Amino acid sequence: MAPTIDKLRQDHVNLARLLSILEQELAEFDAAGTPDYDILLSIAEYFLIYPDKDHHVREDLVYRRLLLRNEAAARRVGDLAQEHKGIARRVRKFATIIGHVLTDAVVQRTTVHGALSDFVEDQRRHMRMEEEFLFPAALNALTDADWSEIEGQIETFSDPLFGTDAETRFAELHQSLQAMASQDHPNS
Ligand SMILES: [Fe+2]
Ligand SMILES: [Fe+2]
Repeated sequence: MAPTIDKLRQDHVNLARLLSILEQELAEFDAAGTPDYDILLSIAEYFLIYPDKDHHVREDLVYRRLLLRNEAAARRVGDLAQEHKGIARRVRKFATIIGHVLTDAVVQRTTVHGALSDFVEDQRRHMRMEEEFLFPAALNALTDADWSEIEGQIETFSDPLFGTDAETRFAELHQSLQAMASQDHPNS
């Protein structure tokens, strides 16, 4: 029983939905259209907040415990903390560029495309790696006591977008996600 892994997997489902929106907006941008920059900025803001406050904190705790229990398996994952720093750098770059566009600064189209596609690609690769190596290895190696201790170390953080009360600043993004969900499941 590892509710921590259930939570991390659910986060990945949520994050993948945001990445799908980013890909749709990127396709719109590449077709010489104008993407919804407000939505892009909201997604960037969410990625600036939630992973470092919650998702990465949980994963880093799991990884450190895996290092103790099965070092070889942890080595296959790589340096998770460094990966998370790299992801944080790319999301800051992406957010800065979108911010520049919204303040009418001159930004080359290739710069916007690059920041957006690098971020989506890197985030997807990172989540795939965790699902393939980190989560199964942790489920195999960690004990019930490990999971209890990890849970005890996590401070509750209310998810501002996918939590029970989405914050008003994410209202438009929340609506886009609901519209997407009703397209995917029209009869639900
Ligand atoms: Fe991660
Ligand atoms: Fe993750």
